Amino acid sequence: MTSNSQPEKAKKPLIINRTSIAGMIIGGSALFLFLFFLGLDFFGGGGSPYTGIVTYFVLPIFLIVGLLLVIIGVILRRRRIHLKHPEAMPLFPTLDLNSPKNRRILTRIVLLALVFLLLSGVGSYRAYHFSDSVMFCGQTCHQVMEPEYTAYRNSPHARVACVDCHIGPGADWFVKSKLSGMYQIYATVFNKYPRPIPVPVKNLRPAQETCEQCHWPKQFYGAVQKENHHFLSDEQNTPWVIRLLIRVGGGDPTFAPVGGIHWHMSIENKIEYIATDKQRQNIAWIRKTDENGTVTVYESQDEPLDKSPESYEIRRMDCIDCHDRPTHIYRSPNAAVNLALQTRRIDPSLPYIKAKGVELLANEYDSTDVALQTISDELKAYYKAEYPDVYGTKTALIEAAIDELENIYRNNFFPYMKVKWSVYPDNVGHLIWEGCFRCHDERHVTKAGQTIGKDCDACHVIISQGTEAETAVSLDGLEFKHPVDIGEAWKETNCNECHTGAMP
Ligand code: HEC
Ligand code: HEC
Ligand code: HEC
Ligand code: HEC
Ligand code: HEC
Ligand code: HEC
Repeated sequence: MTSNSQPEKAKKPLIINRTSIAGMIIGGSALFLFLFFLGLDFFGGGGSPYTGIVTYFVLPIFLIVGLLLVIIGVILRRRRIHLKHPEAMPLFPTLDLNSPKNRRILTRIVLLALVFLLLSGVGSYRAYHFSDSVMFCGQTCHQVMEPEYTAYRNSPHARVACVDCHIGPGADWFVKSKLSGMYQIYATVFNKYPRPIPVPVKNLRPAQETCEQCHWPKQFYGAVQKENHHFLSDEQNTPWVIRLLIRVGGGDPTFAPVGGIHWHMSIENKIEYIATDKQRQNIAWIRKTDENGTVTVYESQDEPLDKSPESYEIRRMDCIDCHDRPTHIYRSPNAAVNLALQTRRIDPSLPYIKAKGVELLANEYDSTDVALQTISDELKAYYKAEYPDVYGTKTALIEAAIDELENIYRNNFFPYMKVKWSVYPDNVGHLIWEGCFRCHDERHVTKAGQTIGKDCDACHVIISQGTEAETAVSLDGLEFKHPVDIGEAWKETNCNECHTGAMP
């Protein structure tokens, strides 16, 4: 019989068993590493997104698994002894606080639990901050978020945290975002995400609750002056500068006269619409409700609704319907090369550099490496063949142009995610996307025959336009002059029907 040895064994603390010991080793190592990384996080700052994931998501799991193993080990061992010696070891412990031994054990358990609670408090607090950080959103799933993160870093919002626009304050959106975040982590790990990531972002929080934290509608913007430097695709890369005064307007009659784009679109009128496509480019129906409650409905002449408006999703227009690219700005080849020429990062004295640069950027490439190599090879080959003297004398300028084109490519084109300018419409303006002209096209008509105006001076006035040698200036506004002769076509045809962002 083993009856001699068993009571002997039962005297060993219950925690000494294989499962619990394994648990202690796992949990102990996790705890040690957790404390180590937590210390680094507090005193070191920065770090990589992966240490964050390890510290706040992976190690706590191991810690908890370790603790569970310890407890399971104790329960199993107790059961085993109980089955053999029911009298020596009852199934459940008796909690007799008069026994000093029990009191000691209880004190230890309570102390341990307190330490654990404290650690998990600090841990969850840090985990919360970490999972809200730009580093976590932008860099962890490096390839997936690369386009958004890169464009964001080069944008006016580079220091606004992702969560300020995508989640905003408050508990309910926090929970929603963490739930959808878990799905996103799953989609990333199992490579199930769509490329490109589709817009509009489905459950983006209404702009009133995010953008308006920083830009409230009653702010007064007055008119904003924009100076757009264009270069034509001729041999001289002739510059063509347009200065516009955009009537952004505002705001609040106690500070300044009201009026302008923001006033009409967001404050005086409530504008709702129905789009028949996912990207909200084809607008079939518009309802305006003004301050007095008067309702006006405009219907598209070209693509009228075939069912009653109530059977569609009616969207209220907000900031995102115009500013849908406030921070993830993917420049078109045309816009990017114009900017590089304006800032002289590409030298405009290189013949046809505008046309060639745009053409090379607009081509399809399978990967960034292939693109960079091809851009470099083709531009050199072009000058060698067509302008051997330029190739001989301006080698450094050609090299600099190649560097800049490659930079443009890296910052705006992401073949892996299939992201570039032409994938995401930009709704402010009307040059390469329909933008404002989705509604302001005189093709949306009320029963009484009113349309939404396309008058060129309603949104902006042109205060100067032309080449350097020949610039027309007027503070009252000029009639638009198209840089190359296309007759009256710009009056009848929308700009975006010719302009694509590559070559028109
Ligand atoms: C200034 C506000 C703002 C900030 C800051 C911001 N976003 Fe966005 N983001 C938007 C808007 C607006 C959209 C487009 C919504 C739409 O069209 O439905 C968007 C779209 C996206 C999309 C969908 C794909 C695309 O390119 O449109 C992803 C992914 C995304 N953001 C990730 C991020 C990440 C990661 C960060 C931080 C590095 C970030 N965003 C910071 C406003 C912001
Ligand atoms: C945390 C504050 C913050 C939030 C939230 C925010 N912005 Fe901004 N925004 C800024 C700052 C700062 C600037 C740069 C300074 C400026 O031009 O006022 C800026 C600039 C802009 C500009 C001018 C860009 C330019 O080209 O000069 C636009 C347009 C804009 N924001 C739209 C939005 C929209 C739309 C949202 C919501 C999706 C948003 N912002 C959310 C802080 C914010
Ligand atoms: C009808 C379209 C439209 C809507 C809706 C709209 N904006 Fe604008 N906003 C414009 C245009 C056009 C400009 C002129 C500058 C430009 O072209 O980017 C502008 C300019 C701005 C600027 C920059 C002002 C400056 O001084 O440079 C900010 C910031 C801004 N808007 C924020 C917002 C916010 C926040 C909302 C939502 C409450 C909003 N806008 C709604 C069209 C719109
Ligand atoms: C979803 C449809 C829609 C879109 C998109 C849209 N608007 Fe409007 N807009 C309207 C409606 C409707 C009115 C009211 C027309 C009226 O009262 O006659 C209006 C009126 C205006 C007015 C006042 C016009 C006037 O003659 O006094 C301005 C300015 C304006 N919009 C600017 C813009 C700009 C700039 C954009 C693009 C960034 C834009 N809108 C995009 C529907 C739209
Ligand atoms: C509903 C408002 C609206 C109407 C109507 C409108 N525009 Fe514009 N336009 C804009 C906005 C917004 C921009 C973009 C400003 C910016 O660059 O941020 C713009 C930009 C431009 C630019 C500068 C393009 C560039 O990239 O340099 C020109 C030129 C222009 N518009 C001409 C016209 C002409 C011509 C008409 C009449 C056929 C017209 N616009 C009617 C809102 C309007
Ligand atoms: C019938 C086709 C057509 C229409 C419509 C049209 N354009 Fe153009 N546009 C062209 C062509 C062709 C060029 C010359 C391309 C070049 O030399 O780079 C051009 C060049 C330009 C340029 C200078 C080059 C650049 O893109 O940087 C600007 C600015 C411009 N157009 C603005 C507009 C605006 C604003 C409208 C609408 C009001 C418009 N265009 C309508 C065909 C068109």
